[in-house]
Amino acid sequence: MLDFRHFALGLFAALLTSSAAFASAELAKSKNCVACHSVERKMIGPSYTAMAERYGKDESAIKVLSEKIVKGGSGSWGQMPMPPQAGVAPEEAEVLVKWILSHQ
Ligand code: HEC
Repeated sequence: MLDFRHFALGLFAALLTSSAAFASAELAKSKNCVACHSVERKMIGPSYTAMAERYGKDESAIKVLSEKIVKGGSGSWGQMPMPPQAGVAPEEAEVLVKWILSHQ
């Protein structure tokens, strides 16, 4: 009985995590991040895996990167600037950054 409960809890946690990742992928699509970013390939902007490699789980990066999404910025990856993503709320930007940095 106890074993079963552990199993059920584990399954529930796994489902929650994967649906959160799915929701974030949908958010990136709906905010049009996918026009310039992809998981593995550099497009106009850096790939999610490259960003995850550079910033890892650095907690302070989350805030800096979220602000950069909302306000735009340049100079970290090359000449091409990232325009301000005006339709992205700060909380949404944070969700997106955490999701991007999970691509390790
Ligand atoms: C018009 C193209 C474009 C769109 C749309 C875009 N980006 Fe970017 N993004 C870029 C470019 C170019 C860079 C590299 C900027 C630099 O070198 O500092 C970048 C950099 C980033 C970085 C890393 C910033 C750093 O300082 O290292 C993050 C995180 C990011 N983008 C997230 C997003 C998210 C999330 C969205 C959607 C809400 C998005 N981007 C939409 C072009 C874009």
